[in-house]
Amino acid sequence: MKENKKEIIEDLGDGLILRRSNILDVETLRDFNGRMHVNSGGEFSESIAAWIKDLASGNHPTFKPKDFTIVEDTRTGKIVSSLNLIHQKWSFEGIEFGVGRIEAVATEADYRRRGLVRKQMDLAHQWSEDRGDKIQAITGIPWYYRQFGYEMTVNLGGGRRGFLPDIPILKKDQDEPYVVRQPTKKEIPLIKDLSEYTAKRHTLSCKRDVEMWSYEIFGRNKNSAVRFNTRVIEDSDGKFVGYILHNFKLSGMSLNIFEYEIIDGLSWLDVTPSVLRYLEKTGKDYAKKESTKKLKKEMKSFNLQLGEDHPVYFILQNKAPQINTPYAWYLRLPDIVGFLNHISPVLEERLAKSYVVGHSGELKLNFFKSGVILHFDKGKIKAEAWDKPDFEDAHVNFPDLSFLKILFGHRDYEELNTAYADLYCDSNHMHARPLLEALFIRKPSNFMAIE
Ligand SMILES: CC(C)(COP(=O)(O)OP(=O)(O)OC[C@H]1O[C@@H](n2cnc3c(N)ncnc32)[C@H](O)[C@@H]1OP(=O)(O)O)[C@@H](O)C(=O)NCCC(=O)NCCS
Repeated sequence: MKENKKEIIEDLGDGLILRRSNILDVETLRDFNGRMHVNSGGEFSESIAAWIKDLASGNHPTFKPKDFTIVEDTRTGKIVSSLNLIHQKWSFEGIEFGVGRIEAVATEADYRRRGLVRKQMDLAHQWSEDRGDKIQAITGIPWYYRQFGYEMTVNLGGGRRGFLPDIPILKKDQDEPYVVRQPTKKEIPLIKDLSEYTAKRHTLSCKRDVEMWSYEIFGRNKNSAVRFNTRVIEDSDGKFVGYILHNFKLSGMSLNIFEYEIIDGLSWLDVTPSVLRYLEKTGKDYAKKESTKKLKKEMKSFNLQLGEDHPVYFILQNKAPQINTPYAWYLRLPDIVGFLNHISPVLEERLAKSYVVGHSGELKLNFFKSGVILHFDKGKIKAEAWDKPDFEDAHVNFPDLSFLKILFGHRDYEELNTAYADLYCDSNHMHARPLLEALFIRKPSNFMAIE
């Protein structure tokens, strides 16, 4: 199929067609999404429009101009509904798999509640599964995506906010021990490696190769809603010791920070004061640049959007006093058995380090309409579908999609058991809870996926 030919997938009747996007849709997709995903003032979002243009033009390393679904009204030739699928690789404690991230979901007001998004979700799921992705993921409005088989099951955002008076002042006779500056192309592999190394703190992480990092730093439109500034941290000898990602403008009176990592063997206590002073200076420079005659902008705080837990919180303690609880990613896992077998090396390692090392036997997980039997053979683990589960025969019961919360380290058994009365280990099966808690560990994730 030629890149600029309309690939019609289905005639939806009433003059509407469902089709793939192509390179000729760049401007109409840009305009449609800018109007649909308005800014905080309710106006056309130039930053969303810039992001969509980047994606649709084909410059993005993991996205092609044909990766939007479009519903077009053939009577007017206009796009009336659309979404897209952004390909990426994620990792579960080092084990990689493909993910299809669905974003930019919208329907023109006059065409809503006719099932147009449902149709496109089905199509995007098919595209993603055809590519071999194990998971589909969305950051989206509350509840809505549960209708399409998703559960909110990985932290999204959240963190701590601190205020300028708490930033340590550099003594008059002291040189800044660490300098924060723009990266060069040469430093991209160092940033990539450090990002991969520190991802070990989390259950899930997103992989960025050198090309993707290069695109993030040098390739995106400067107004894009998903661009951030990457800065490297170096010591007094000019040696790379870490990096930080922050917004390129103020959000209200705050500068948002999305990642902050330093190399192993270095104290966070040593580096953090220099980084905070850099953030203060940068935020104040942005405030000056963003001020107009009518509106004087000010920077008053730094917002560490580093998730539920991060080494810098341990350093700052009550100097970053405001706690912002995370929202959540929606994940869809169509083949739980296949996924459990894919990550079995991680589960086997957890078992080997637990009090139930070398276990043999089985653990029957009941999801009510389906289930999984985990077979243990001297510490080896294999998952198998349990087609006709029965709660009287089950070892652990998980209503709806609650199992995903424990699988992805979002919540532990105790928390889930408190939240759902019908989620429990059957006390007649003594092995159930020790095995469950050996395999599934609460280890919250925080990562920036590819967008
Ligand atoms: C939210 C939005 C994308 C829904 O589009 P739509 O084409 O009306 O969606 P659909 O009709 O395919 O919805 C599928 C189901 O969700 C229901 N639904 C639609 N909007 C809903 C909403 N806001 N909340 C809850 N359910 C909703 C529909 O009735 C339908 O239910 P059914 O399949 O049981 O009949 C659309 O209202 C929109 O563009 N909003 C503004 C932009 C936005 O918020 N986008 C989402 C960003 S994550």
